[in-house]
Amino acid sequence: MIELLPNKHKLEYVAASGTLGFDGKGYPWEQLLIFLRLIDPSLFTVFSKTITFEKTKGNLRTYNPLTWSYIRPMRGGSLNSVGLSNPGFQRYLEDVAPKANSLKIPLVPSITSRSINELIEMAQKLNRYDFVAIENSVSCPNIQEDCLTDLDEIIEGCKAIKEVCELPLILKLSVNHKVEELVPKLEGIVQAISINSVPWSTAFPKEKSPLAHLGGGGVSGQIVQVHTWELVKKLVKITSIPVIGPSVWEFEDIGKLRDMGAGAVSFGSIFLTHPLRATKFVRKDMKINKI
Ligand SMILES: Cc1cc2nc3c(=O)[nH]c(=O)nc-3n(C[C@H](O)[C@H](O)[C@H](O)COP(=O)(O)O)c2cc1C
Repeated sequence: MIELLPNKHKLEYVAASGTLGFDGKGYPWEQLLIFLRLIDPSLFTVFSKTITFEKTKGNLRTYNPLTWSYIRPMRGGSLNSVGLSNPGFQRYLEDVAPKANSLKIPLVPSITSRSINELIEMAQKLNRYDFVAIENSVSCPNIQEDCLTDLDEIIEGCKAIKEVCELPLILKLSVNHKVEELVPKLEGIVQAISINSVPWSTAFPKEKSPLAHLGGGGVSGQIVQVHTWELVKKLVKITSIPVIGPSVWEFEDIGKLRDMGAGAVSFGSIFLTHPLRATKFVRKDMKINKI
């Protein structure tokens, strides 16, 4: 468990960014399952789909799963090229932020920008609402040009957010970031590290992506544990910043991640391919471990 400061929010189970919509109430295809309590967002700390300052079209043009062309279920995971589709920060501020209620669904807005001024404005404004943390996502595998590879830029962005925002800061990294260089400089600034999906070109360097026309996409789930768990192990060795372990696929993965030293676990594409599993696993884990 990761205890965030100063609000003392306990981070144990995370619904990763993009899994339960912008407000934790799920996408239209998840809402019946939520109504039936087969998915229970209140069991998770829910990270919002990532928000950009301006509205971004991305590739998510329709909420109808039957017409998805940018998500490919794979054996043991999924490939997605949803991109950063979102209605923009102002809409999020008007529609979602005022309804945030950490007692019902602990919510973490996930933001991204290459502009320090935009990061500052977003962080400053989000600070006023009942969120439990803020995530700076610098690792979207689908929008290569927006992904921050400049380590100084990442550090500067995190420092700027911390300066204007009391919400605990979580940084979302890619398996391709040079963490040995980056992470030691973020001690005392970032309170936890989350991990994004793996660019297709990293996961399968010799094969052409079925979503090559959309930038290749990000692979997530069990099939990339070899990459994401490698990063968990590396981070645990080089930093005292707690790590949120991703790519849970089987119930036993929760224990495996804890054994690796992850402070919390996160559920990503499992929500997409096996929508009931995450809630089932969390209920079982809470029972066994009396959480
Ligand atoms: C459909 C879908 C949408 C996603 N949207 C975002 C997003 O908006 N921002 C982000 O940082 N990560 C996003 N992700 C990545 C997940 O939050 C998570 O980091 C990734 O799936 C790796 O975890 P996993 O192996 O447990 O699935 C998305 C993933 C999926 C499958």
